[in-house]
Amino acid sequence: MKILSVVGARPQFVKVAPVDEELRKRGHEHVIVHTGQHYDYEMSKAFFEQLSIPEPDYNLEVGSGTHAYQTGTMLARLGEVIAEEEPDLVLIYGDTNSTLAGALASVKLLIPCGHVEAGYRSFDMTMPEEVNRVVADRICQIHFVPTKEAAENLIKEGINEEGIFVSGDIMTEALLKNLDKANESDILARLSLEPESYVLMTLHRQENVDNPERLERIFRGLSGTPIPILFPCHPRTEKRLEEFKTLEKVNFNRDMLKIIRPLPYLDFLKLEKECAFVVSDSGGIQSEALVLQKPCVTLRYRTEKIETLQAGSNELAGTDPDLIAEKISRAMDKLSSGQKYPLPEFWDENVSKRIADFIEKNDFYKNILVAPESFTL
Ligand code: UD1
Repeated sequence: MKILSVVGARPQFVKVAPVDEELRKRGHEHVIVHTGQHYDYEMSKAFFEQLSIPEPDYNLEVGSGTHAYQTGTMLARLGEVIAEEEPDLVLIYGDTNSTLAGALASVKLLIPCGHVEAGYRSFDMTMPEEVNRVVADRICQIHFVPTKEAAENLIKEGINEEGIFVSGDIMTEALLKNLDKANESDILARLSLEPESYVLMTLHRQENVDNPERLERIFRGLSGTPIPILFPCHPRTEKRLEEFKTLEKVNFNRDMLKIIRPLPYLDFLKLEKECAFVVSDSGGIQSEALVLQKPCVTLRYRTEKIETLQAGSNELAGTDPDLIAEKISRAMDKLSSGQKYPLPEFWDENVSKRIADFIEKNDFYKNILVAPESFTL
């Protein structure tokens, strides 16, 4: 079969790596299209290198812009590539603008589309990612879902059950397969850090970092953290912190905060494995923290990763300074208690195998987008 994957943002490079390896191993032709949503070396090429993903067959170089510009430009350029390549199936990953553009471009050309990491819902339509998830899932033919709860979300929305398949979490497969390599990273020594002596933080959601008051509240809440915070900083956040002068305004003790450039995958994984706990507003990191058995404080009011709340590793702190401080102190307690957190079913190293098996064994999706020849009343 000829399968075309659309990727564009950092977490999607992690997700496509095991799928690419499995599809090629089975002799399928796998075309990788990079939309160019992420373009800085640290946000893009470094991931392809460390995860041994082949150079993308196409780079659409869409770059940054408004959601409308980004999604629309990707859609136009993807339409040309997909029409030219005529794949049997398009695969999209996660919830970014590249995900939505990939789904739209594919089904508009009547080519079936499979969504890897389908079915997650935060039920917060003010998040651009939630809009991307809901629309992409509505128009896709195959839904590879990470958990049973994600499958239930889709069933409630009336999605065809034949196409819903609990494959497990693809990011978990990538993490487990790369842990040995990550362990060889010398990043702790390079940053002069001891295991469990620091908090690892990421922060980049537009609703948090593009709003000066909210960003200030977050750093106020973080200001009493008893151990230093290591913060590999997304370019978007770096720009906002400078523009809003947030750290100066809240008078943040800079001895307790180390801001560094975004890190390549293996270094980040090593830091995540060795940290005391994680503070983040990312979706993927909530899951990775669960897999690595680390407490996680999530700087959001809602999460699509409800399995991390159910497991007990993750707690939502929103952006209220007092609640952030309280959750940080709970994370310190959890760390010392050595609590263990159960993983959902199928979060293992075989997710890409299940996805490839499903694609090969089924053919219902091949005919869904064929126009009917006649009416039957
Ligand atoms: C995107 C995804 C988000 C995902 C995140 C992972 C959407 C709507 N959001 O958010 O779900 O969690 O990727 O990292 O698709 N920038 C650079 N260099 C880069 C990339 C971005 O400087 O390589 C800056 C630009 O100023 C840009 C801003 O970051 O305007 C935002 O980038 P964008 O791709 O629009 O969204 P992310 O915040 O990265």
